[in-house]
Amino acid sequence: SFATVVDVLSGKVAVGDEVTVRGWVRTRRDSKAGISFINVHDGSCFDPIQAVVPNTLNNYDNEVLKLTTGCSVAITGTVSESAGKGQSFELQATAVKVFGFVEDPDTYPMSPKPHSMEYLREFAHLRARTNVTGAVMRVRNCLAQALHRFFHEHGYLWVATPIITASDAEGAGELFRVSTLDLMNLPKTDQNEIDFSKDFFGKESYLTVSGQLNVETYACALSKVYTFGPTFRAENSNTSRHLAEFWMVEPEVAFASLDDIAYLAEDMLKYAIRAVLEERADDMAFFQQRIDKEVINRLEHVANNKFVHMDYTDAVEILQNCGKKFEYPVSWGTDLQSEHERYLAEVHVGAPVVLKNYPKGIKAFYMRQNDDGKTVAAMDILAPGIGEIIGGSAREERLDVFDARLAEMGLPVEEYSWYRDLRRYGTVPHAGFGLGFERLVSYVTGMTNIRDVIPFPRAPKSADF
Ligand code: 4AD
Ligand code: MG
Repeated sequence: SFATVVDVLSGKVAVGDEVTVRGWVRTRRDSKAGISFINVHDGSCFDPIQAVVPNTLNNYDNEVLKLTTGCSVAITGTVSESAGKGQSFELQATAVKVFGFVEDPDTYPMSPKPHSMEYLREFAHLRARTNVTGAVMRVRNCLAQALHRFFHEHGYLWVATPIITASDAEGAGELFRVSTLDLMNLPKTDQNEIDFSKDFFGKESYLTVSGQLNVETYACALSKVYTFGPTFRAENSNTSRHLAEFWMVEPEVAFASLDDIAYLAEDMLKYAIRAVLEERADDMAFFQQRIDKEVINRLEHVANNKFVHMDYTDAVEILQNCGKKFEYPVSWGTDLQSEHERYLAEVHVGAPVVLKNYPKGIKAFYMRQNDDGKTVAAMDILAPGIGEIIGGSAREERLDVFDARLAEMGLPVEEYSWYRDLRRYGTVPHAGFGLGFERLVSYVTGMTNIRDVIPFPRAPKSADF
């Protein structure tokens, strides 16, 4: 029968049973005694399984001895306890079937020696075979499953929000336009005449920057909802924390206040982090050893301590008086830069921090105004090493205040007709946030570049594959 590597290594298959494991060769080592040791991985756990292959197999000389890194195989053998250190079980091989050899092993890009992350990015189609990308993808999957489980257990409904939309949910103008025009098949001369402003079946439309506005409509009917999907930002940011296409988790809660969703975010993060520590201990041990010596300690600290809350106004004071020279000056009313966010989280608090009540001038049109008339009920969660991982707010549910804000910002009221309807018909206070999923994966794994925690990163000058 067939077994995965984790089935065998975790002891699920009894010693003495014969099984077939299928996967890809990581290494082969031959002993003088006529035995080869072949390590095979199949993605089911961090460690490969070791197969002990005797030279008595009939394809030993012509196939087994030609196996190199990357070859695909099915190895049949009996499970035995391993004498090798660090391994629990191994396979005493009775048959080796080769699915595919690696042509020209000397030029195979994924040799078993460690490669730089920059190098691996050039091989997005092969890097999943490395132990680092495998570990990232298992942790990423664990986080996604844990987040869905968290919301399900807390009575939230998962709502699918559209990817093609007419609205700019953040009002920041970072939109990718969607086109139905078959440019390739248009005669060259006609391309100059195209009216790009009305190109989705005659109406302007874009890839969504956030599912929030759509998911608000469902919160104002089904109470507790969330959306989890890809979002797109046409910002030309070449940084280690920006992608043009990233995934966002966005809960939206009717009758909730700013503090309610700040605590929801804290519970959600702790739940997801605990899931990774419990379910992916093998991968986390690797990240701790090879990527970031402090990563497990940091996560345990986050899982076991209350988040610190701080007002924007107090944060500005702290930054102004901390004695550190920043590249960008801080003054009340300006947006915090990544260096400021990181100082607050890394140096001042030493853990994630919830920053609340920002000046309205630097925040989106939909955020609820506080009674001081100057600030809005917004919150960002800033994490050490990354900066902002979550952004959220209470939403302005009062129609007169909302309309006044649109006018103040010079936004056309007609474009918000359906959004205003929620405020006209049975309006309720509500609040929500967006978690940048890849920023969470970076934080949890210690991986320093966001392009290495998504299978196919989309960023300026990086949309191959
Ligand atoms: O702060 P943002 O722009 O907030 C929103 O989009 C709200 N509509 C969310 C809501 O309230 N439902 O984005 C939310 C999060 C950020 O905190 C950040 O973690 C992540 O999304 N993010 C990005 N991640 C990767 N690449 C980018 N270019 C990102 N821009 C934002
Ligand atoms: Mg934000």
